[in-house]
Amino acid sequence: MRLLPVATEGELAREAADLVAQALRRRPDAALVCATGRTPLGAYAELARRRLDPGRARVFQLDGYLGVADDDPRSLYGWLDRALLAPLGIAPGQVVRLREDTPEPEAECARYEAAAAQAGGWDLAVLGLGPNGHLGFNEPPSPPDAPTRVVTLSPESLRSNRAYFPPAYPVPERAMTAGMRLILGARRILLLVSGERKRAILRRVLDGPPTPWLPASYLATHRDAWIIADRAALGPE
Ligand code: PGA
Repeated sequence: MRLLPVATEGELAREAADLVAQALRRRPDAALVCATGRTPLGAYAELARRRLDPGRARVFQLDGYLGVADDDPRSLYGWLDRALLAPLGIAPGQVVRLREDTPEPEAECARYEAAAAQAGGWDLAVLGLGPNGHLGFNEPPSPPDAPTRVVTLSPESLRSNRAYFPPAYPVPERAMTAGMRLILGARRILLLVSGERKRAILRRVLDGPPTPWLPASYLATHRDAWIIADRAALGPE
């Protein structure tokens, strides 16, 4: 695991965009898994500003709430579409979704696992850090071999996700998430961390040791995991 400290959120966005662009230069049909949440938005906007050619990239949706239609403001597919897929011109056929309104979530998770295996695993994972150390919706405790599955969200995740949507839309309590096994199997992982509110949890991730109670701590066991963190998240030297 390597730490790439940057000064500002803008610099974080540029560094992350550089690494995504590099992955696509190396392999135009790279398989990427891309988080929603606020932290990666700057990187996605930077990629759109550079008019990055997404080539034949395949993009996997990292997670999604159960029982939410595509046109619901809580759809994480909708969020990914607005933030990344549409601005970069990534076609629906290039995207592997976790369909949030599926009547059969377990089968949806199995289909997703099969698509990831068929892609030969992921070349790059672009992730944010949950307030409780989750990756995707792998809530504590999540072992490193956790499969893609249906999960119940923790009170901390419900609280922090509350801020994403209008008050009339309660945060669904159940979700689907790419499993830890797939995430940790990605050939490169970028964990983007920004802002003072992530300082304490980032400190715990950096201090280790790896534990299911802090899923992001397993990045320490990965060969090519980068934590790109701004000064606000890292705190004083
Ligand atoms: P954030 O969310 O990027 O909006 O901070 C990260 C997460 O909760 O996984």
